[in-house]
Parts: sequence; structure tokens; C-alpha cells
Amino acid sequence: MRNFSDYAELSADELRARIAAVRAAAGDRLVVLAHYYVPDEVVDLADFVGDSLGLAKQAAASPAEAVLFCGVKFMLETADVLMNRPDKIAARGGRRAVVMALDLSAGCPMADMITAEQAEDWKRQLDELVDFSEFTPITYVNSSSETKAFCGRFGGKVCTSANAEKVVREALANRPKVLFMPDSRLGRTTCLTLGIAPEEIVTWRPNKPLGLATPEEIKRARAILWDGCCPVHQRFSASVVKKIKRDNPGSQFWVHPEAPRDIVDLSDGYGSTTKLIDVVSKAEPGSVLAIGTEWKLVDRLRRRNPDKTVLFPAEEPSKCVNMGKSTLAKVAWVLENWLDGEPTNVVTTPAEVAEDAYRALESLL
Ligand code: 13P
Ligand code: SF4
Repeated sequence: MRNFSDYAELSADELRARIAAVRAAAGDRLVVLAHYYVPDEVVDLADFVGDSLGLAKQAAASPAEAVLFCGVKFMLETADVLMNRPDKIAARGGRRAVVMALDLSAGCPMADMITAEQAEDWKRQLDELVDFSEFTPITYVNSSSETKAFCGRFGGKVCTSANAEKVVREALANRPKVLFMPDSRLGRTTCLTLGIAPEEIVTWRPNKPLGLATPEEIKRARAILWDGCCPVHQRFSASVVKKIKRDNPGSQFWVHPEAPRDIVDLSDGYGSTTKLIDVVSKAEPGSVLAIGTEWKLVDRLRRRNPDKTVLFPAEEPSKCVNMGKSTLAKVAWVLENWLDGEPTNVVTTPAEVAEDAYRALESLL
């Protein structure tokens, strides 16, 4: 395997030339996917840049034999399950697609806020009080494959920020109640939008007796939410939003649904990263928009829409450090190793986990 430290010395032009050489040799055997939150130098070389839903769909439909996925671990695990279903492996003549990360340490803190063991323990506690078969367990895609497999085992689903309302609505048409993990912010906003009353929504505090809820609250709940959150989306400030609105009459504030409810309440609308990009690109020239999502994306929107004013609704930039671990040097290193026949940073899901996780992931396709 090549030595990564050799790449640290190379200029951006040299790295880009080496990446281009690998891609020319690989042709359509290789696809490069990137999430909007990774730095520009990597976004600019991807075949497809998208939100979690778009990226999962691209991976599922890709005929490539290798994917370099520039994002965070749960995205790679999702791509691995979707690209390596038994029918897909058979179509590749028995070969697994190789799903490669730029940095295996790039996880998502929210995804780590629930483990499959915690989900099982949650179910055990609920079994004492309610009929669990009345609940559809739904996990946000920002979760481990094991958490997705837990949901798959109990007839559950995976959602993203782009399709959460659809997934929860369909679940409620089949069973009267939902269990939503690990993002209580997305869960609350989605349930309120679908007309569930605040008193029918219970937030379950992890590692506390009965999640700090009363038995009556749990029996009455139509939605029980695991209390996880994205640290990056908790830093928006109501006073900054109000000041932007005061100083810029007619301005709009749009936010990602990982933000707390009091911030969503101040907004003109919410949506996935793709939706937020769409709002900015379709706004009239001269518009003023505050966009509440990860700072690198908002900064890119500001630079790429010079005819509009794009503002960040917080005191300080709020960056996802894990998405920031994607660099050109890592792209060149991972791709050259792969072309040498020594793929590195490969993400693989155990077959029994993948099977149950896929049942829940089908809701994305
Ligand atoms: P989407 O791009 O799917 O809206 O998700 C945002 C996010 O936080 C990904 O980690
Ligand atoms: Fe996780 Fe938040 Fe980073 Fe997305 S922005 S990867 S939810 S920490």
C-alpha cells in the first residue's frame, strides 16, 4: 500500500492530475460521490454531489464496481448495503462493489447517539407498557447499519431529511404509532407537520429510567423520539435570525430540520440540503436569505450566488468537522491504491446485518 505521508507534499495541481489519471484508466468502473458538506476541492471533482437521499439512490442504481464516497461513515454503510444486495453481487458475476472512504474516522456524532443494543433495550422497556407491534420503528439515515437492521427486523423504515414526512405518513397509515431515532429534532418537526399533537409526542432521554417519561405519557404517545441531535445544527441563534429579519425586511430564513424546533418555528420553511440549495438558486436576484445548515455549504451558496445575499444565522460558523476530513490528498491516495489493486478504507457490512438493514432501506428507493 502507498504511504499517505507522500501525498501531503504534493500540490493541488499535482493531486488533481493524478486523480484524473486514475479516473481515465478506470472509466465507468469507478464513481465518485460527495455530500454537499464536504469541502469545495472534493465537491468539484465528484461525479454526483447530493443530499443523503440523492446519494443513496445514486449508489443503489450505480453499475460501477467501485465507489469513492466522500462523506461520513453512515453514508458509506448505506451505499455498501444498497450496492451489495445479493442480486447486485450476482449481476456483477459474484463480485462485491468496493465502497471506499477517504477517512474511516469520519463518523457522525448523531449516528453514534444510539446503538442497536440501546434500541433493543428501548423496545424491552416499552414492551412492559405498550403493544410494540402498534409502533413502526423509523430511523433517520444518520444511524449505523445495526440500528437500521433493528428497524428492519420490526417492520421499520429508514428516512432522510428529504422524505421523512412521506415515510412517517406511510408508517402511520399502517400502524397507529411511530418510534423515531436518533434525531428528536427531525422527528418532532416531522410529527408536528403531520398533525400529531405536541402532547402525543414523547422525547425519550437515553440512559434514564423510562426515558424520563411517565407510564401515562408513554401509553398515550403516538410518537416516541430518541433524544439525539446533530451538534452542528444546534448552534443557530434565534436572536441572530430575528436581527436578520429586522435589518432586512422581506428576507427569508430557511433551515434544515435537524435544527431545534424553536428555530424551525422562526423559519419561512425547512428542508434537506437539496431543498435549501434550490430555494437559494430560485430566489430573485437581490434577495436576502438566511440559510440554517452546515457552514461550508452556506458559504458555497454565498460565493456561487453573487446576485443574492446569503447569510448564516449564528454567531459563529458551525462546521461539520467529519465532513471536513475529505481532502484532495486523501482522494489521490485512496484512488491510486485502488488502481494498484490494493483498495484501502473499504467499508463492508456483515451479511446478516445488511439483510435486515436493507429491508428498512427499501423505503429510500
Ligand atoms: P441531507 O443532506 O440529507 O439533508 O442531510 C444533512 C446531513 O446532516 C447529513 O449528515
Ligand atoms: Fe452528522 Fe451533523 Fe455532521 Fe451531518 S452535519 S454528518 S448530522 S454531525
